[in-house]
Amino acid sequence: MSIQVNASNRLFHLQTKHTSYVFHVIEDGSLGQLYYGPKIPFKDDYANLNTREEHDCTNTRTDEDVEFQAELLKQEYAGLGKGDYRYPAFQITYPNGSRTSEFQYRDYELKDGKARLTGLPSTFADDSNDSQTLTVKLADGDLELQLHYTIFADEDVIVRSTTFVNHGKTVFLNRALSAQLDLPDANYDFIQFAGSWSRERHLHRSHLRPGTQSISSLRTASSHQENPFFMLARPHTDNNQGAVFGFNFVYSGNFLDSVEVDQFDTTRVLIGINPDEFGWKLNSGDSFQTPEVIFSYTDNGFNALSQQLGAFYAQHLINPHFAHQERPILINNWEATFMDFTEDKLMPIVERAKELGIEMFVLDDGWFGHRDDDRSSLGDWFVDEKKFNHGIAGFAKRVHDLDMKFGLWFEPEMISIDSKLYQTHPEWMIKTPGRGQTPGRHQFVLDMSRQEVVDYLFGLMSHIIQDAKLDYIKWDMNRNITEMYGADLPADQQLEFSHRYILGVYDLYDRLTKAFPDVLFESCASGGGRFDLGMMYYAPQAWCSDDTDAVERIKIQDGTSYGYTPSMWGAHVSAVPNDQVGRLTSIDMRAKVAYFGAFGYELDVTELSDEEQATIKQQVAFYKQYRKLFQFGTFYRLETPDTSDNVYGWETVSHDKQTAIGMRYQILNGANPAYIRYYFKGLDPERRYTVNDGSEVFSGAELMNAGYFVPRVMNRLQSPKVPSDFHADMFIVKAVD
Ligand code: GLA
Repeated sequence: MSIQVNASNRLFHLQTKHTSYVFHVIEDGSLGQLYYGPKIPFKDDYANLNTREEHDCTNTRTDEDVEFQAELLKQEYAGLGKGDYRYPAFQITYPNGSRTSEFQYRDYELKDGKARLTGLPSTFADDSNDSQTLTVKLADGDLELQLHYTIFADEDVIVRSTTFVNHGKTVFLNRALSAQLDLPDANYDFIQFAGSWSRERHLHRSHLRPGTQSISSLRTASSHQENPFFMLARPHTDNNQGAVFGFNFVYSGNFLDSVEVDQFDTTRVLIGINPDEFGWKLNSGDSFQTPEVIFSYTDNGFNALSQQLGAFYAQHLINPHFAHQERPILINNWEATFMDFTEDKLMPIVERAKELGIEMFVLDDGWFGHRDDDRSSLGDWFVDEKKFNHGIAGFAKRVHDLDMKFGLWFEPEMISIDSKLYQTHPEWMIKTPGRGQTPGRHQFVLDMSRQEVVDYLFGLMSHIIQDAKLDYIKWDMNRNITEMYGADLPADQQLEFSHRYILGVYDLYDRLTKAFPDVLFESCASGGGRFDLGMMYYAPQAWCSDDTDAVERIKIQDGTSYGYTPSMWGAHVSAVPNDQVGRLTSIDMRAKVAYFGAFGYELDVTELSDEEQATIKQQVAFYKQYRKLFQFGTFYRLETPDTSDNVYGWETVSHDKQTAIGMRYQILNGANPAYIRYYFKGLDPERRYTVNDGSEVFSGAELMNAGYFVPRVMNRLQSPKVPSDFHADMFIVKAVD
């Protein structure tokens, strides 16, 4: 890792372990991008990367300097109005109403370490020796622009963000994206993770085409619909090989990931807060800090990219207290009881769960106010004494007395009309004067941009955390914002509202996680509606999806795994017929999908047969034995010969390559199938392994290259063990030397 600056040529070269990122100051004083990709040696000058040719019908910098044509250049952080007609990274309205910027390079600062951002989730390097941060400063009159870049030892990652500082008259930021990357060609596939409620983050891959293609959110949440993580990959890239860039945004609100292919087939990537529904007033002395973006590149395919991102998050994004801590196996009562429960009804579930080895009970929605359905009580975080006559603390004590952990559900950002909070503080609800209100799940949203709202929630939640000695909080968020308007904000600052809302959410998270460092937070937004790195900074795991069907979950978890790692997503075994799709799958299949994640159950264990309960007991014991491997091992998606989405393969390998678990999921069984082989990844080719404790010993090389035979019984009537639809084969691989 090293950042080299050639001060006389005004050239910056950032070298991570295997990549180089190079940019420099160009003729007009702005910054030009030169290169991002596999590592190249340091040089004083990259004239070959800095070519200029005169094209017709294009604006030139001056009448003389006709080869400097802004729209032909790769820029580092482009503005508007100077002949580069691609979408810009920023746009400013100056005091006279104009929008043309002329930022020019001033100087730079190079420091060891990486400080956390204030008020925003961010990457960090607590050991200052293992990172370096470069800040390049530009100025346009009294306005200063700072571009920040951090690289980290052993990580092929570059973290970027931008700060605007105003030393002069008031200006307005209309667009202030976090980072831009101009690439010299457009032969890439755009790979994104899209979906909807209960079918989040399905992979979509399409070749780049001329024009702008983008993913975004205007929901004041990163959204179920489009996740901020995306990749640009060469067309032949797959899980095991090929060039790929990954981009992820450390933010939970409105975002824009835009990829523009221009007239010369070059590609501009822009990432940041969505400029629609954004604006920021910068008075003299004010500054605006954008959220951070993570860039990552590898030559070695999607698995390598996911692995290097996962390793990076664990070191530099996830709360160090939890980053490597095995997560408790939980049982959540939501799909077991919904809101129809009392302490007496829940205790048998808790006790049986304890007998089965489950480690934590999570009390979901419906414990507060008079909430028997979803029409009331949000905001009234006081126990419903009809359900718990000794309060939450009394119930929590009974759970703790069984030597189980206790977790509680909150939806802090919300308010019901039928609530004491609404009677007392109707003004805390987000609404636009003179407009009707748009309910979502019969509820409304609190204005988290107001300090007193955050203070109120912090006070109430702190009290319950202390009183009930909570070990875990599930922080839900079940609707998106409408009628965006901040009652406290003047008219010319209303476009700040959505970002200020998210800053309020972060403030509450920050205060709670600092005050209660041992409490594990799991974020949730009707499942995976806010599954992003902003949340992960505070809450190291997120409920992946409200869809707990094993088959649906394969696609969801598979898509999620490209940009995130298994310890980051909650995965539960629920009852069948499945609540979301009505499908019947075996308890074996359900667990084998949920093992890859922060594992748990979400059903009434007392209603299961003795045989199923015995199975759960075995599953829990099995998961405890291999939990570290499932949550923190090196995760691989396996390419399978099947291209019909019928077969998926996942594998996790311990860091010492001593143990691996492979899974082969088959959705529908076919008659008279061909012989099947399972090709492992990531083993030590030289070492010898057994599979499922069998007597045959295999070299790692054999298991990876020749594969392992997956037996199939042809006559379905002959054996109860015959694989059927919705089937998972599991292979436990252990080194014998
Ligand atoms: C959301 C969550 C569920 C559950 C319900 C409770 O849908 O995703 O897991 O907590 O809210 O209302």
